[in-house]
Amino acid sequence: MVKARVSVIGLGFVGLSIALTNSKKQIPTIGVDIEEGKIKKLKNGIPGFFEPQLQSYLDESIKEKLIKFTTNLDYALKNTNLSFLCVGTPPTDDGKINLSFLKKVLKDIHKILKSKKTHHLLVIKSTVVPQTTMNVVLPMFKDLIDKGTVDVVTNPEFLREGSAINDVFNPHLIVIGEYNKKSGKILESFYRQFYKTLPEVIHTDITSAELIKYANNTFLATKISFINSLANICQNLPGTDVNTIAKAIGKDPRIGPLFLQAGPGFGGSCLPKDVSALINFSNKFEKTNELFKAVLSVNQNQPVKVLELLKEFNVLKKNNTVSILGLAFKKDTDDIRAAVSIEIAKLLLKKGLKLKVYDPMAMDNFRKLFKEKITYCSSIDECLRDSDCCLVLTEWDSFRKLKPKKFEKLMKTPNVIDARRILDPKKFSGINFKAVGLGN
Ligand code: UGA
Repeated sequence: MVKARVSVIGLGFVGLSIALTNSKKQIPTIGVDIEEGKIKKLKNGIPGFFEPQLQSYLDESIKEKLIKFTTNLDYALKNTNLSFLCVGTPPTDDGKINLSFLKKVLKDIHKILKSKKTHHLLVIKSTVVPQTTMNVVLPMFKDLIDKGTVDVVTNPEFLREGSAINDVFNPHLIVIGEYNKKSGKILESFYRQFYKTLPEVIHTDITSAELIKYANNTFLATKISFINSLANICQNLPGTDVNTIAKAIGKDPRIGPLFLQAGPGFGGSCLPKDVSALINFSNKFEKTNELFKAVLSVNQNQPVKVLELLKEFNVLKKNNTVSILGLAFKKDTDDIRAAVSIEIAKLLLKKGLKLKVYDPMAMDNFRKLFKEKITYCSSIDECLRDSDCCLVLTEWDSFRKLKPKKFEKLMKTPNVIDARRILDPKKFSGINFKAVGLGN
């Protein structure tokens, strides 16, 4: 292909990571977003959220003038020949996905590309349910596709929050959904320029590529709900530990060791949303989604299972204080979207308990949600002081190092619940200690 000049449309966590990794590879890149405030911040070197390495990539790209940020879609499209569409498809209340942002930007893109003479490749990165590209995107661009000036491919993304930059540079697979060989080849040759050694590429039809994204996330969610179901059994079986079970079954190469970490349930902006959307989408095909429904229902019940541990300590009493260590949906992010901490905090407040919380990154986001209803602490020590129970909800490295002595010294009663399995039960045997998946 002619040398790629890339625009990335939608600068959320996926879009910004893709934009900055492109500029790092010296590919001229323009980042576009509809939000003026976001663009202003980005121009000033402020990403607006925490993601490891992102800040230094942003600083470098700005310093070396490798990236431009703009709200001007017209400028971005006319000065590039390949656009990654990373617009959000947030969940609706009934578990579908909201396509309105995507549809609006596609309409604007179509209008602009109509007057462009040279070829443009539109790469759909946004997660959309199967057949969306076929039924919504392609009809919109039919005139330009027929004319030969525009092509559309779907190219689902597998990067994770907390390791986004590394995941862009080291993907396990590239999936290209295409309706003709030419469009898929253009994207593949772009990736040939991007990667020194091209990762494995699978070319599929457009709809299969969309389904692969859902299948991937739903399978990961299934592994988590599976191990959490076993954890809930272990809790009733003295002497057992779900981690031992996970370690053993993970050695079977047909199962594999990853995503078998029992905990308070999966959260984040992707797994819960994608399982719900797949259920909703497949409702029209009779009895094809019973497993997915179970995966979601196990997950929705997991915070209740964590509260049962508090009950066993007899701390679920009005005006008792619970300290929550960890608010982010996982470590190395400040993201609290669909984080289990939200559900647990709501349940505890409803029961009249007082909450003290601490997280290395996600405090501001949590404060926006719970305002003055809870106490925000600036350190682990402050969070633990005079509390009746401590609940570890995120697997931050700084929590892993905690010793029982600290809890004994600071808390009113050292009741500790490890919902992430990052503390060694043997070391904590001297104090009141319970953990997800630990039978005692
Ligand atoms: C997920 C997928 O892992 C990515 O491949 C995908 O690209 C992304 O969604 C997306 O669709 O954009 P992410 O949401 O960043 O990535 O987070 P995960 O690492 O998948 O974790 C999701 C949740 O599962 C977290 O709450 C995590 O704590 C939990 N989890 C994960 C467990 O409880 N146990 C595990 O063993 C693994």
